[in-house]
Amino acid sequence: MNQVTKSSSASSLLYIDDLSSANLDYLLKTAALFKKEFYKTGSLIHCINPEQTKGMVVQLLFAEPSTRTRASFEVACGKLGIATTSLWNLHFSSMAKGETLEDTFQCLMALKPNMIVCRCGELKAIEVFLHSSSIPVISAGMGTKEHPTQALVDAFTIQEKRGKVEGEKVLIVGDVLHSRVANSNLRLLIRLGAQLGVCAPEALSPADKQAWKDVIRFSSLEEGIKWADVIMCLRVQRERHSLRNIGFSMAEYRDHYRIDQENMQMFRSDGILLHPGPAVRGVEIANQALNDPRCHIITQVENGTHVRSAIISLMLNLEIKSL
Ligand code: NCD
Repeated sequence: MNQVTKSSSASSLLYIDDLSSANLDYLLKTAALFKKEFYKTGSLIHCINPEQTKGMVVQLLFAEPSTRTRASFEVACGKLGIATTSLWNLHFSSMAKGETLEDTFQCLMALKPNMIVCRCGELKAIEVFLHSSSIPVISAGMGTKEHPTQALVDAFTIQEKRGKVEGEKVLIVGDVLHSRVANSNLRLLIRLGAQLGVCAPEALSPADKQAWKDVIRFSSLEEGIKWADVIMCLRVQRERHSLRNIGFSMAEYRDHYRIDQENMQMFRSDGILLHPGPAVRGVEIANQALNDPRCHIITQVENGTHVRSAIISLMLNLEIKSL
C-alpha cells in the first residue's frame, strides 16, 4: 500500500498556486490511496481514525449553481466522518433581504465551522476577505477566475487513465475565455509537465495572452485532435455571455467545435476524453462521443470524491494512517 508522506498544510485553497509541489504530490498520492481503499473495503476508516474528525463541521456556501462539485464535497466530508451544513438556495437566505455576500460569510464564520467551501462570483472584496479568513476556505469555483479542485480532479484522472501527466498533450476545446476550470488547469497541468493546446472560436479564446503564451493554438479541431493524448471539452458558458455578442450561433459552434463520432475517429485509440461537466448533449459533445470507451467523464465525477477527501484531509491537517 502507498505510504503517504504528509506535507505542510495549506491554510486556504483559492488558486492552484496556493499549493506547493509537496502539497500536489501529497494530494495525488492520497487520492489514489483513498480510491484504492474505498474499492477494497467500501470505507476510509482504515485510513483516517474517526476520532480525529469527530465533531467537525464543514460549511458549504454555493452562490452559483452546482451538481457534482457540491455533492462530491458533501460525500467527501461524509466519508471522512465530517458533518456538513449547506447554504445554496440564496433566495431563501438573508441575501434575499439585502444582506451582502461578505456579511453572509462573516455570519457563517462566526458559527466557527472547521472549514468553509464556497462557490461565488468574482469579487475583489470577496477574494481579499477569503484570503484573510481565520477559518480555512476551499474555493469550489470563483467566477471565471479559478476552480482549483476541479483541475486536481482532472490531473488525477489523467494520471490514472494515461499513467502520467508529464509529457501528456492536453487539448482544451471550447469556451476557454469564461472557464475557471481551464484557468486552473493551465496552471496545474503545466506545473505537472503537460503540454497544452487550445481550440476555440476567436471570441471565446483566452484573453490573458501572457498566461497562455506557451499554449499551442489550433484553428482546426481535427488537427488538434490528431495531436492530442487528452481532449478536455468545455461547456459554452452562455450565462456569462449576456453582455457580449459572441458573433456566432450555437449551430455554427456545433459545426466547428463539437466532439462527435466522426472526429473521435481521428483520436488515438488509447487517448482519453474529459469534460468537467455539466456536458450539454449535442452542443459541445455528441451522444456517440459520450458513449465512446475513451470518454471518462463519469470517472471524473467519481474521482471528484476521492480527490476532495484528500484536499479536505490536507486542509484540516488530518493524520492518514499508513496501511
Ligand atoms: C464547471 C464549473 O462550474 O466551473 N463545472 C464543475 O464545477 N465541475 C464547468 C461549467 O459550469 O461549465
